[in-house]
Amino acid sequence: MTQFRALVIDKAAKGLAASFKQVEPSALMEGDVDVRVTHSTVNYKDGLVLSGRLPPKRLPMIAGIDFAGVVTASSNARFKPGDEVILNGFGTSERHHGGYAERARVPAEWLVKRPTAFSAAQAMAIGTAGYTAMLCVLALEDHGVTPGKGPVAVSGAAGGVGSIAVSVLSKLGYHVIASTGRREEEAYLKALGASEIIDRSELSGPAQVFSKERWAGAIDVAGSTTLVNLIAATMYGGCVAATGLAQGSDLPGSVMPFILRAVTLAGVDSVMAPMAKRERAWGRLAQDLDPAKLEAVTTTHAFDEVPQLAADILQGKIRGRIVVEIG
Ligand SMILES: NC(=O)c1ccc[n+]([C@@H]2O[C@H](COP(=O)([O-])OP(=O)(O)OC[C@H]3O[C@@H](n4cnc5c(N)ncnc54)[C@H](OP(=O)(O)O)[C@@H]3O)[C@@H](O)[C@H]2O)c1
Repeated sequence: MTQFRALVIDKAAKGLAASFKQVEPSALMEGDVDVRVTHSTVNYKDGLVLSGRLPPKRLPMIAGIDFAGVVTASSNARFKPGDEVILNGFGTSERHHGGYAERARVPAEWLVKRPTAFSAAQAMAIGTAGYTAMLCVLALEDHGVTPGKGPVAVSGAAGGVGSIAVSVLSKLGYHVIASTGRREEEAYLKALGASEIIDRSELSGPAQVFSKERWAGAIDVAGSTTLVNLIAATMYGGCVAATGLAQGSDLPGSVMPFILRAVTLAGVDSVMAPMAKRERAWGRLAQDLDPAKLEAVTTTHAFDEVPQLAADILQGKIRGRIVVEIG
């Protein structure tokens, strides 16, 4: 293997900085599968890492929490050269080199075989954000939410997790209430299948204990008062899947909706989710995500654009999902 190009975070004169470098293969970390990375993406967490708000646990560190690519070498029986694989999370770009590189070496147990329904580019159009959206949908289903029980609300609807969640929920027959701070994206959200659009400010204001029961389920990427107000408006026996902190990591709420309306708060983590859950989520994405809607939420970018895209995502400027062409 020769040198390869990567976006590397390292110490700088002031704090940390990310820059494109030629990296020696000897710098790759432990793992039994080598991958030629063809595509990656930009998630909110990539923005946090590249901005220095979520510094890697070791340096230098190749950034990027996702990749799709082709196995080039493997000493694990599950994979052979030529296999097409996906990686989401497992501490990449925090503790282990990530997907913003032409080459990767990772433990086999972190890799999912790419579903034949998706190309590598489509798998990264989904990326960690989309796979997390499906984990949230599964959490709602596992807690008894069905289209017949009532609407489902989605916060941050024009973002990555939100756009895929709206698309999947509408295909499953839910009445989707999409919350967004970008009213100009109303037509986009309606095209993805949102039945109603509400302004983000309806949820992000002061925290309520109870409000009128409006939805049987909710998917939240915002945290803070938005999450509390989603819980406060959840119908008796409903469920809220909490996965993000775009507004804040605080939870300034009350136990009352849990103990008087039997509402469930389901935490959703994608990073360390066990393989069975990942495979279930990717299988359901192959079944329940309309490829035309996936295309509608996706824009494709060059590897060089990642630093700017990472800055943009933290400012809520990115609509839907991004594919980054690496290889
Ligand atoms: N737990 C996990 O494993 C996991 C996995 C993936 C993502 N996440 C988290 O989920 C969140 C979304 O990730 P993403 O990749 O979808 O990011 P994203 O594309 O940037 O979407 C986030 C969206 O949240 C909304 N938003 C931004 N600031 C807000 C605020 N102050 N109050 C309320 N809403 C706000 C915006 O949507 P509108 O403009 O439509 O309002 C924005 O597009 C992030 O916090 C991320 O860390 C967690």
